[in-house]
Formats: sequence, structure tokens, C-alpha cells
Amino acid sequence: MLAAGVFCNGVLACGGEGNSSSASSNANSGGNGGAGASGGGSASGGTGGGSASEYNALWIPPTLSGKTFNLELAKSTKQLMPGAITTTMGFNGENFWGPTLIMKKGDIVQMNVANKLTEETTTHWHGFHIPANTDGGPHQMIAAGTTWSPSFEIKNQAGTYWYHPHLHHMTQAQLTYGAGGFIIIQDPEEAALALPRTYGVDDIPLVLSSRRFGADNQFNLKDAYGDYMLSNGTMKAEVSLPAQFVRLRVLNAETERTYNLGFSDNRTFYVIGTDGGLVNKPVPLTRLPVFVGERYEILVDLSADAVGSSLDMQAFNGGHPLGFPGGEPQSSGQFGSLLNNKTFDVLHINVGAATANAIKALPATLANNTYWTEADVTNSRTVKITDMGPGTPFTFDGKGYDMNVINQNVGLNAIEKWTITNGATFSHSFHIHDVQFKIVSRSTGVIPENEQGWKDTVSIGRNESVSFVAKFDDFASATDPFMYHCHMTNHEDEGLMGQFLVQ
Ligand code: C2O
Ligand code: CU
Repeated sequence: MLAAGVFCNGVLACGGEGNSSSASSNANSGGNGGAGASGGGSASGGTGGGSASEYNALWIPPTLSGKTFNLELAKSTKQLMPGAITTTMGFNGENFWGPTLIMKKGDIVQMNVANKLTEETTTHWHGFHIPANTDGGPHQMIAAGTTWSPSFEIKNQAGTYWYHPHLHHMTQAQLTYGAGGFIIIQDPEEAALALPRTYGVDDIPLVLSSRRFGADNQFNLKDAYGDYMLSNGTMKAEVSLPAQFVRLRVLNAETERTYNLGFSDNRTFYVIGTDGGLVNKPVPLTRLPVFVGERYEILVDLSADAVGSSLDMQAFNGGHPLGFPGGEPQSSGQFGSLLNNKTFDVLHINVGAATANAIKALPATLANNTYWTEADVTNSRTVKITDMGPGTPFTFDGKGYDMNVINQNVGLNAIEKWTITNGATFSHSFHIHDVQFKIVSRSTGVIPENEQGWKDTVSIGRNESVSFVAKFDDFASATDPFMYHCHMTNHEDEGLMGQFLVQ
């Protein structure tokens, strides 16, 4: 039923009578009203960098490490807006989001996920190369009051991954409530590099999303976009970062919005990692579009910034072509937002003194990845995003997701080229479980430098087709499928998901 409005994504003007200047003043007053009420187990209120009341300290998730990870998902509440408190979900007592899990490549980990909700959930380890029956997709349901305990070896490279609910039809709602968390995998190759890695000091996890509130201050669980930016669940977030190279591990955990990231002074920053780990060498950029589900590790050089100065990380989301998620002109309605089609702040940065172990130089090389090419391919297939226009949900190859239907069969150890084709209505963020892939072509032109690393999620523009190559090794099952889907959770919940067996 949500799909009725899908066509509103910039193709037709719909909803949204508000004009952008009133939208922006609403955003400001709402944000100010939320100040000082961030809760979340972090320091409250702003510190330094100008007006002390304007910002809230960025919440940094606590970490869990070792080989046994006990997670507990429960309902919570968080004071986000003035007045009524907002119902949320969090892991391990957090009132939004959850702890960051630090894992080591090669370890066999035991996960215990206790569902303390009054509804079912699942917990998916996004980006992990693990057996299908441990991966936490829609089939690994965790009934209310029960605990799910998969165990698997960490085979992925060092990088930034995440966990989140994946219950069919419920992913958007449970993720919107705040259920999710980061996973950082470490390995010896990454550890040998001179990179910032002091968590919460010069190595900062940053999950970006936005929320819309009803009159009762509860989250809107259905619309495509929020009106208020939440960075790690913090409204109007600020952080103090040392005057040196700092690493930001950026995750877009939105429903639909893309963040076209950059800094207020347009400084150059460097992509050092994509979804599946480090890239071979840093990629300099001034703008980085991050689609839903994607992760990028970036380095920003603050070594020449005066202590006490400040800058903003911003989303430069104005003026994009039709199909840019969050570029729609309207400020309200299912596909409108107070944050649409404009530049807005995602993180206020106050520069503090350098630390004793400051990284002051950019490594010239980072990794020695050898990527799959077209020449390696043993089988090719095409997956079509079927786009029937208004009133019909997006599907793959004309069929909405059915848990009982296997859509693709892949041979164990096949090196496959998948070509995903899109229609004209909107862009999508395609994600596949089990593998990390190499993008080998975009029908619209060159593959940007920042997409040259290992990926598990890729944007597909309007009328575009994208091809990637992946090897489906290690894990075969005649019964347990892996998912592929659009990571825009409203599209996924409506059926833009399929499943494949590896045999
Ligand atoms: Cu982030 Cu199928 O998921
Ligand atoms: Cu989509």
C-alpha cells in the first residue's frame, strides 16, 4: 500500500505544501528544543565551540569484544523532542542503537541475541561471509522472549560492518525505532598500518539517519524520510576531535535518504575503506554520496586546524538530479522532508588538542586487494528491478518477496556477474548477503574511485544498470537461502527482496 506514493519521488509533485524557508526554521527550532535532552547515557549538553546550548554531545556507543557477544534487544524511551518521550529500541540497555562489537578475523564467535520485545525480530550481521542459517535474515526468526545463538568464524577483512533487524515487513519499523549497532572487524594487516584507531577519540563510528515525529513525539514508521537529523541517535550532534588525522566510520542506516557528505569548508578528505574493508590506497574527495546500507571509512586531516576552531560535516543534498534520495522538493508528505533538497549539518566538530599518539600523515597505500574482473566470471545473471509505476510495489523480476520461493540458484564456488537493472521511477540501494563484490560496470558511465573497493551494497540510479562480480564460496546449503534486496527498508518490506541458494 505504501507503494501508491512511490511515484511521488520527484516524478510527480505530491503532498508537501510547506515552503523551504518555513521548513528550515522549523528544523532549527525543533533541534534547539531537543538540546540538553539527548539522554542516551552520554554526556549531555554542548561543550565548547561556541554556543554551549546549541549542540548535544555525540553519543559514542560502548564496545563489546572477545569471542562471546551477548546482545539483548528491548524497547526503551529517549527524550528527543520537547515534551512527550519517544518510544525507541536499543540493545543492551541503550535507549537507541546498541554497542559496537569489536571482532577479530579468524575468531569463532558465539552470538547470543535475546529478544526482550513483545514481537518477533531477527538480527542480521550485515556484510558478513557466514553460513546462511547464521546470517540473521528473515528466516532466522527470534520469537519474543527467546534467545538465538548462532556461532560462526569471522572471515571478513578488517572493516566496518553492522547488525540490524531483518524481519520481513518489519525491518523499517524496528530499524526506525533504533535497533542496530556497528561491528568493527580487526585483522593484522589493518593493525600494521599507521591509521587512527583509538575508538571514540580519533576513530569515530557515525551512523546517520533522520526521523519524523508525530504530534505525540513518536517516530513515524512509514514515511520515506525523517525531518530531524540523528547522528548516533543524537540530535544536533557535536564532537570534540583532536587536531590530527581522524577516522570516521560512516554508516547510512536510513530508510531512503542518501547523504552526500562533505565539510563546511569544502576540504578534501580521504576514503580509506568501503563496505568490505580497506581500499588499496586513499581516495581524495570533497563529496561522498553514501547510500542506505553503505559504509565508508574516511580520514579527515585536522592537523592544521586551530585548537578551539570548529567545522561541520554536512550533507550537501540540494540540487541533485531526479532520483537522488532526499532530493525531492517537497518538505512534507510521504516523500517530503524538512531536510530534503538542501544542505544540512550532520556533525559539528570542535577541534581539540592533538593526542600523544596522533596520526599526522596519510598512508600512501593501505591494502593489496586483488579484485574479480569480468575475465574471472563463470556464470552471469540479470536481476531486474520491476518498476510498474504508481500503485504497485517495486519487485525483482516481477515477483514480490516470498519466503517460500527460491529466486536464484548459485553454484558453490561460482564466480558470478550479477547485472541489476532499474526502471525510471527512483534509485535503489542493492544489497546482497554472503559475499563482498567488485563493481565492474555502470551503464551510466565510469565507476567512481570511491566505489572501487569491496562492496556489499551499491546504488543503482534511474534507468541504470550496474554489474558486479562476486565469488560464492565456502557456504552451501540446500535449504537455507541468502537474501538480496533493496536496502531502502520501505522498498524491502514491500517486497523488493529475493533469495538464493548456494549449492
Ligand atoms: Cu543490512 Cu539484508 O541487510
Ligand atoms: Cu529500493
